[in-house]
Amino acid sequence: MTLKGKNILLCITGSIACYKSVDLYRRLKEAGAGVKIIVSSSAGRFISPYIFESFGEEVFTDDAFKSPLAHVSLSKHADLILIAPASFNTINKLAAGIADTLITLVVSASQDKPKVLVPAMNPNMYANGILRDNLNKLKEYNFHLASPETGNMACGDFGEGRFPDAEGIIFELESVFKEKTLKGKRVLVTAGATREYLDPVRFLSNASSGKMGISLANEAVKLGADVFLIALNIDAPCQYINKNMRIIKCKSFTDLKDTLPGEFKQCDILLMAAAVSDYSFKEKSSNKIKKGDLNLNVELVQNEDLLKALSGIKKEEQRIFGFAAETDSVIENGRKKLMEKSLDYIFINDVSKNVIGEDENEGFLINKEGKIKRFGRQLKTELAGKLLAEIIK
Ligand SMILES: Cc1cc2nc3c(=O)[nH]c(=O)nc-3n(C[C@H](O)[C@H](O)[C@H](O)COP(=O)(O)O)c2cc1C
Repeated sequence: MTLKGKNILLCITGSIACYKSVDLYRRLKEAGAGVKIIVSSSAGRFISPYIFESFGEEVFTDDAFKSPLAHVSLSKHADLILIAPASFNTINKLAAGIADTLITLVVSASQDKPKVLVPAMNPNMYANGILRDNLNKLKEYNFHLASPETGNMACGDFGEGRFPDAEGIIFELESVFKEKTLKGKRVLVTAGATREYLDPVRFLSNASSGKMGISLANEAVKLGADVFLIALNIDAPCQYINKNMRIIKCKSFTDLKDTLPGEFKQCDILLMAAAVSDYSFKEKSSNKIKKGDLNLNVELVQNEDLLKALSGIKKEEQRIFGFAAETDSVIENGRKKLMEKSLDYIFINDVSKNVIGEDENEGFLINKEGKIKRFGRQLKTELAGKLLAEIIK
């Protein structure tokens, strides 16, 4: 929880998306952040500051003269200034160095504090050249940008400019607080479970949800890596997936076998969290097999061990992090797999503890020197950070 204990100054400016800042406020509080709020005069026309006051918050309005020196004290108190939604007007004022509202004044006094802008406006306004130039200028001054989404707008237009989901904004804030320890590194992640089809509707698979792999991919993005996710049958995402990663969808062992080696050659770190089927059907039918025709003694063939094959083409500087699921002799079996597949690390999910498909996980990390570290039950999102920290070490 990177936002736990952080002081966020939430500045709300006059966009039709203002009402969404209430949900954002709630999510910040859930994440353990302390939140102070400024509502601009225009924003106050869209939502009442009383909403936040009724949650027990002190809300500052745009009149800088009403709370003398609030701009200095608020910027000193904040660990991060979040302008969400950030209006066309306020963004352009900030770039011009205008400080005629409490929000622009606070920013003017917050030289060393991280600042995140979440623009939300009509697509034509967002495409406006003056705004674009000014956003680029603000980026040069180390403002972070949580890009708006593309979709239907309140005005009926379709395009880029929608206020993003709170999850995307929280992700951006967490990224700001992370050291970019994987900057310049290419990280390849596999997540989910393969499906081996018997016919177009029936398949052999396993219960892996993809949550561990997605958590690792998200975390690698936060640490500044160039991330490529191979998503296996994660059609309705089981959790938030950040859009700043390349994603390719695969279904079967064969799809993965065709995709993985080419991508592996270009990566620095492979995190193989997907659960790949050990077997496929010897014969597959292109038509749905009729109930009476189904041979109950279907024959299986063993799939090649992809990780073992990749270890054979691995370059000295590349790192391979494998994952295994074990119910018994967990460490012994994990160690055997690490050696057989020549991995740098293996994390053994203790699946006897009901972790498959859950938000939490627990297990053991073994490195190639044989060092074992136990990770107690915790959120997969938190475990992901700790596992990546082991590689970075
Ligand atoms: C109905 C209405 C909707 C608006 N929606 C937006 C919007 O979504 N995004 C935006 O940047 N400006 C929008 N504006 C314009 C801003 O509210 C206006 O530029 C205002 O001066 C912004 O002031 P502020 O930046 O100090 O909050 C809207 C104005 C009106 C009247």
